[in-house]
This record gives sequence, C-alpha cells and structure tokens, in this order.
Amino acid sequence: MDRYAVIGNPIAHSKSPWIHAAFARQTAQAMRYEAVLAPLDGFADALARFRAEGGRGLNVTVPFKLEAFALATRCTARAEAAGAVNTLAFTDDCILGDNTDGAGLVRDLTVNLGCPLGGRRILLVGAGGATLGALLPLLGQHPAVLTIANRTSSKAATLAQAFAPQAGDTRLGGCGFDALAGQGFDLVINATSASLAGELPALPPGLYAEGALAYDMMYGRGRTVFMQAALDDGATRVADGLGMLVEQAAESFALWRGVRPDGAPVLAELRRLIEAG
Ligand code: ATR
Repeated sequence: MDRYAVIGNPIAHSKSPWIHAAFARQTAQAMRYEAVLAPLDGFADALARFRAEGGRGLNVTVPFKLEAFALATRCTARAEAAGAVNTLAFTDDCILGDNTDGAGLVRDLTVNLGCPLGGRRILLVGAGGATLGALLPLLGQHPAVLTIANRTSSKAATLAQAFAPQAGDTRLGGCGFDALAGQGFDLVINATSASLAGELPALPPGLYAEGALAYDMMYGRGRTVFMQAALDDGATRVADGLGMLVEQAAESFALWRGVRPDGAPVLAELRRLIEAG
C-alpha cells in the first residue's frame, strides 16, 4: 500500500493523519498515512529513511518547511515564491517540493466561505512564513488591493517590493499598523503568530468595511482572540483557519493521488470533533 506521512516536531497532535484517512475513504484510495516525529537536527535523515522504505510523499510541518525547500530537487512556482515546502512527492529520481498552504487558504475563502477575492480589498497582517506562502495564491485571485501590514513595518515593505512583479493590476503595498488607520477592507487575514502567545496584533480600529470577513489562520475550539476582536471592531463575519488546514491537505492529496477530495464534509466533521472536545 502507498505510504505517506506528516513529519514535524512536535507531531503528536497533528490532525493530518485523520484528514487524509477521511480523504482516502471518500475517494476510495488504498493508502496509508502516518505521523513521523523527526529529531530537530534529524529532518534530512528522517526524510531519506522514509523515502528508502518506499514512502511516496510527505507533508512537512513546523519547524522543517525551510529545510524541506532546501532538500527538494525541484520546486513548484508557488513553493519557490513561498521559499518553503509543506508537501513533498517522491519519484525514483526526483524530490518534488510544493507548497499548498496558500492554495488551501484561497479555496477555504472562496469555496467554503463563499468570499470572492477578485476586485476586493484585502489586508494581510504579518510578514512571516504564513504571509509569504499566501501572497502568490492571493495575487492570483486579482484583488483590487492587497496590503501587507506588520508590527515591524520594514518587513512588510520588503515583501511588497519582492512581489511587485507578480502584482498585476493589484495595488500591493506594505506598511506598519499605524498607517492602516482610516482604511477599510473587505477581508482581513491574521497571518501573525501572535495568537500562539494569546496576543493580538495592535491594529487600529475601524478596518472593516461593510460585510467584511475577518479570517484567522489559527484555529481552536470556539472563537480565537483575533476573531472576537474583529467582531468587536465591526467585522460582519469571522472564520478560523481550520478550513485552510483541511484544504491544504486536499491540495496535497490531489498532487499525490491525482484525485481531488471534497474538503467541505471533512471540515464539517473535523469541526464537530473539535467543538465536542
Ligand atoms: P514564521 O515565519 O514561522 O511565521 P516569523 O517569521 O517569526 O515566523 O513571523 C511571525 C509573524 O507574526 C511576524 O510577522 C511577526 O511580526 P514581527 O515581524 O514584527 O516580529 C508577527 N507577530 C508575532 N507576534 C506578534 C504580536 N504580538 N503582534 C503583532 N505581530 C506579531
């Protein structure tokens, strides 16, 4: 049976084995998918071992996405743009690196949440790895405005400059939080790691245009602090990143198996399990 796994450190609480088992059942694919804990200094060895044992592909998670990018012998354009790899596919002579995070985000937004991005004003908060992975797929949707705002404004400006050649007719810019005052957005995405520390990015009030969606890439039971703050500040709708998690997995599954699973029913079931604790 074809073998796949998610590899990271820590890995015990990864939902990927559950998600891929659900996709395999749904699409009647015979495959195994496990979780592999790699030592912090042992990613390359763990990858080589899994491949030597006949493994067909890996999902790569924290903290190995940059190392996976370096070890891939060929990368997709979206992985190149992200400078990070969350999906590896093995053939005899090639380690293909892909990054499905941004595509998963876009699919969750446009399909699961019914939020079209073309012509919209989008604010992306943060300028770390999560933002980098999302930029090219978001630009591919042709928003009218894509503003990157970061606590350290220089990082946002650098990112905006780097992606200017891909911006097309999107108004792409980078700034600090203060410069956002007085602007309205249709979609605000929290791509910072602030929630990991239970913190909130110090955004000025009044960022949400009428009907706006606030999206937190983090997820958990109930609303995240970012979602609650967004509602308090006038967001019409809020969503967490559980759908992005499911949809990036669906995209990886499609790359490996050539069949695209339907993420929505798997997301609904996963949500039910998480809310039930
Ligand atoms: P990674 O690349 O792994 O995502 P990172 O490069 O450290 O991690 O990026 C984390 C992002 O979250 C950064 O944009 C960071 O802002 P700074 O560049 O100013 O450090 C942002 N971040 C983390 N904690 C934050 C907080 N409390 N408020 C606002 N932004 C925060």
